[in-house]
Amino acid sequence: SDVAHVPSAASELQGLFRAAMRAALPKLTDEPVVVPTGNPKFGDYQLNNAMRIFAHLKGQEGAPKNPSALAAAVLDKLLETLPADGIIAVERALVKEKGGKEAEKVVSPAIAGPGFINIRVSRAWTARHIQAMLRDGIETWAPRVGYQRAVVDFSSPNVAKEMHVGHLRSTVIGDSLASTLEFCGVDVLRLNHVGDWGTQFGMLIQHLDDRREGGLAGGAAEEDVKDLQALYKAAKKRFDAEPEFKARAREAVTQLQSGNELFLQAWKRICEASRREFQAIYDRLGVRLIERGESSYNPLLRPLVEELCAMGIAEDSDGAKVVWVEGEKVPLMVQKSDGGFGYGTTDMAALRQRAHDERGDWLIYVVDEGQSGHFRLVFGAGRKAGILPQEKDAPPRVDFVGFGLVLGSDGKRIRTRDEGAAVRLVELLDEAKERSREAIVAHNRENEEKGRPFVTFTPKELDEAASIMGYGAVKYADLKNNRLTNYKFNFDEMLDLAGNTAVFLLYMHARIASIDSKAVARKREDGRATLGIDELKRSATLMLAHDKEAALGLHIVRFPDALESALADLKPNVIADYAFNLAGAYNSFYAECQVVGSEEEDSRRLLCEATAVVMRACLKLLGIQPLYRI
Ligand code: ARG
Repeated sequence: SDVAHVPSAASELQGLFRAAMRAALPKLTDEPVVVPTGNPKFGDYQLNNAMRIFAHLKGQEGAPKNPSALAAAVLDKLLETLPADGIIAVERALVKEKGGKEAEKVVSPAIAGPGFINIRVSRAWTARHIQAMLRDGIETWAPRVGYQRAVVDFSSPNVAKEMHVGHLRSTVIGDSLASTLEFCGVDVLRLNHVGDWGTQFGMLIQHLDDRREGGLAGGAAEEDVKDLQALYKAAKKRFDAEPEFKARAREAVTQLQSGNELFLQAWKRICEASRREFQAIYDRLGVRLIERGESSYNPLLRPLVEELCAMGIAEDSDGAKVVWVEGEKVPLMVQKSDGGFGYGTTDMAALRQRAHDERGDWLIYVVDEGQSGHFRLVFGAGRKAGILPQEKDAPPRVDFVGFGLVLGSDGKRIRTRDEGAAVRLVELLDEAKERSREAIVAHNRENEEKGRPFVTFTPKELDEAASIMGYGAVKYADLKNNRLTNYKFNFDEMLDLAGNTAVFLLYMHARIASIDSKAVARKREDGRATLGIDELKRSATLMLAHDKEAALGLHIVRFPDALESALADLKPNVIADYAFNLAGAYNSFYAECQVVGSEEEDSRRLLCEATAVVMRACLKLLGIQPLYRI
């Protein structure tokens, strides 16, 4: 990307520590590791790998005696070379020395424990850093990722089987990861690996053929595919109960695969109907995806398997072709004994296309944890076949991003009453939206009754707000959890205005955003007009004098840390946590610091604006649109 990159607090500190380390220990090649401290008592950031570095130096000539001595040497150099007005705050205090005399000493940065160095970030630096962001845009804070083009495989539902909450998880997590990478300037190919091929089509098409007068040749009929759920159910019922139908369904697969025109047309019609249903969901959720279904790889499968056989990587196993991967108990099947190709073959072809043709240098698969074994085989076979590099860290990098189950409030896998079918996504989204609409209306009615400020909506505005809030709540309830844990789906919880919810964050954002209009609307005693925020950004200076201002400011400059850690583990919940804590830091600030009408109004409006900007960035990365009035 061509957005200028501004080093984060952590990387700025890392640079200073590196320089100090090189000066103190010229032979050392280790990189300093600087992380945010968990506990603010110890400082804001910490050098935390002195022990490890010490272990590397041990026994060498001139090596420090112990990790503390190493840290002391680094700290001395750091203090010698510290720029006067830089990021590290230097605090001095009168300290009693051994003889009882008092002397002024540096108390921060300081060494703690066996060689940690704790530092505090200067408030002046923080304020300047934030002000520059307000001027140049939040994108300048995006960390460098080190990859050019990522391919993210997510959502990937199956045709004719309705999209269920499991696919919702993949959709929401995948979209968030893709957006986070895009925010960091990575070119992302968002791929929907739709299950649009396979044996289920045999029974579906055969059932259509039987049901229609004149069979498939009777012409295309929209009616046939109007209710795919029902079609699937009916066909499956026959498939399980009628051996004769089962045999013909199998034959139909062969017909389809060998290109029978009528069968192909029926298949296309089924896919088209499914596609419309999926797209309706993506439109609602505001998720962009490119469909590249399993069927698109069909022409690549046979040559691929032939190649694998010729390379001696695929071997015969009872007439089937399999690839063994070291350390795995089962092989990857690439050709069935009847000559057909399956899920594994398709994934091998897809892997190659993504690595070679698409030139992806980071391939990500967002699929339920139950498929981790499948992907270990696919990646392992890919390495064996030279599609992926032998060395672990060479590109393309591949990641399987698994996730747990969605549970009902009873703690069991979420189901509907009828026949244990997975809950329909459409109904779930409808309910979230309706509940949000009611909540917004009730909230404003109550405010009106109690004489508090309230919002009036046009029906269209209300509808939009309800969608944003309802779908946002569903997404956030998913994303705030560590993706690997199962989570309980609970409407009351996810729509709780006071909980860790999208609703809370959306209200928070709207409140912050309203402060500015309040400031501008207010008649000042001196009769001067209040500057708009854009002018203010240019003319006013942000100052972090109050402790709560400083704490909020520090949290704001830590946004890039959250992004880095979210991407390190491919965990969007890190961003959700960060956003929730941002709201907390803002609340603490707002409780103690008057904004509108105060002496510090200008500076504090800038701080509010920065909070809103970062909050919007978080919401965006979580796939949630901001609301300005609710
Ligand atoms: N369609 C599959 C399912 O619903 C998920 C596909 C995941 N992606 C892949 N490349 N295999 O279980």
